[in-house]
Amino acid sequence: MAKVTLISGSVFGTATLTADEIENQLESAGHTVTRPDPATIDALIDESVELLVVCTSSTGNGDVPDDLLPVYAALLNEFPRVTHLKYAVVALGDSSYENFCGGGIAVDNALAELGATRLGGPMKIDATEITEPEEHAPLWVIQLINSASTNRTSD
Ligand SMILES: Cc1cc2nc3c(=O)[nH]c(=O)nc-3n(C[C@H](O)[C@H](O)[C@H](O)COP(=O)(O)O)c2cc1C
Repeated sequence: MAKVTLISGSVFGTATLTADEIENQLESAGHTVTRPDPATIDALIDESVELLVVCTSSTGNGDVPDDLLPVYAALLNEFPRVTHLKYAVVALGDSSYENFCGGGIAVDNALAELGATRLGGPMKIDATEITEPEEHAPLWVIQLINSASTNRTSD
């Protein structure tokens, strides 16, 4: 079973609720979840952290919510070593905005550019189509985590 670090960024609470449900379902599947609150870059650069899930909405014009901004800014400005991380981003957004899921995509790109390994996605959830992202995101995350931990066992 895997040890997963889960961080979230939210303005109105939908991404937090979705992260809550991802946490619940990962734990029900037998995984261990660490949920640093507030999310900090220190929680990611710890080399004992292997699996990272980020669940974030977008605000402004495709921007990262304030509560996740310190992590995103550190990724952009401090170039931390994150090559040990395998990660997946769940991006909540609304396709009526020009930069659909821009916040999640920005975090995903920043992690990839620093050499972290993308497990899949980002999973983009459109609020115009899906009003309960907490019913969709957990299964996608669990499948990726299960597959990553199976691959690790067979290394
Ligand atoms: C002021 C404002 C700006 C937003 N900007 C974007 C955006 O640029 N791109 C996008 O995909 N969604 C955007 N959204 C939609 C939210 O990301 C979406 O509704 C999300 O589900 C909200 O999650 P939260 O409650 O966790 O903040 C915006 C919403 C608001 C209210």
